[in-house]
Amino acid sequence: MAVLVTGGLGYVGSHAVKHLVDRGEQVVTLDNLIFGHTQAASGSEVVVGDIGDKDLLRQIFSKHSIDSVMHFAAFADVGESVADPKKYYVNNISNSLAMLDVMLEFGVKMMIFSSSAATFGEPEIVPIPEDHPKNPTNPYGRSKLMLEEILREYEHAYGLRAISFRYFNASGADPSGLIGEDHKPEHHLIPLILQVALGQREKISVFGSDWPTPDGTCVRDYVHVSDLAQAHLLGLDALRNGKGTTEYNLGNGNGYSVREVIAVAEEVSGKSIKSVDADRRPGDPAVLVASSEKIVKELGWEPKFPDLRTIIQTAWNWHNTHPNGYSGK
Ligand SMILES: NC(=O)c1ccc[n+]([C@@H]2O[C@H](COP(=O)([O-])OP(=O)(O)OC[C@H]3O[C@@H](n4cnc5c(N)ncnc54)[C@H](O)[C@@H]3O)[C@@H](O)[C@H]2O)c1
Repeated sequence: MAVLVTGGLGYVGSHAVKHLVDRGEQVVTLDNLIFGHTQAASGSEVVVGDIGDKDLLRQIFSKHSIDSVMHFAAFADVGESVADPKKYYVNNISNSLAMLDVMLEFGVKMMIFSSSAATFGEPEIVPIPEDHPKNPTNPYGRSKLMLEEILREYEHAYGLRAISFRYFNASGADPSGLIGEDHKPEHHLIPLILQVALGQREKISVFGSDWPTPDGTCVRDYVHVSDLAQAHLLGLDALRNGKGTTEYNLGNGNGYSVREVIAVAEEVSGKSIKSVDADRRPGDPAVLVASSEKIVKELGWEPKFPDLRTIIQTAWNWHNTHPNGYSGK
């Protein structure tokens, strides 16, 4: 049976595709290339197209014996979602619903969904457990929470079983150096910091230095993208063994401040990284750290790269050898 991976030419999806291909799964990768890179396919069969295109999906499901979908395709820029919520609800909800329609038409009833720590909003308890109250502070986070809730109802009504993985800060790159992070525009802290180390950016802005944290800067939980990919394999196995719909947090349970991340990036790259203090961004929680005990206990997830230095080292190896990402050295 084949696995359909939507958004599989993007950052996290391409790492899951590589893990699937490496363990001998048949993989069909569907991506509209808005942000994806064909070089990130790891030998999987690529279909260029949109998850909202029902006819295309019918062709894919007719041609391949697909038993499950890993659903990464979405827009994921929090700030943009506030300025243009329609874009987020259309892509992350309407297009996902179109795909779910075709899955049901073809009796495909297993899905792994890329959800987010943004479903929680401002945490009341840290580390954040799965059953923590959900109060997303932006349309992006709300779109992820809505799809989680839709998936719960689809299990009850149609027997479609789904695992929603709430990633904290996905980071690092595959240790092979073959694939990595290439977002244009880039919004994630580690690649932005490494752009300064590469001389592509003059400085990094630190949004808020008066947060109630040890050094005043925001604290986040960085989780290696290969560990996320590994969790997807465990999730797929669990669904194939009959696991019902559920949600898991994916993080390391360790928080690092912006200044700590910059310091480690300086050590790893051997470059000085200039930073400037800027105003807080509205809606940014001071601390976001996951409790991932549930997946460790239930699925035996064991992160291989929990250490920040290793995460940044793999990211640096990728960015240093691919300073322009996939579009040439
Ligand atoms: N990167 C993170 O730290 C992070 C954290 C939490 C959740 N997530 C979620 O993980 C998923 C992947 O994130 P990413 O960082 O890899 O993003 P990404 O932009 O690199 O990957 C998304 C991919 O989906 C494709 N895509 C978007 N809409 C599509 C559509 N309608 N049809 C077909 N393809 C489409 C894009 O071309 C892109 O290749 C997203 O759902 C995101 O919300 C990411």
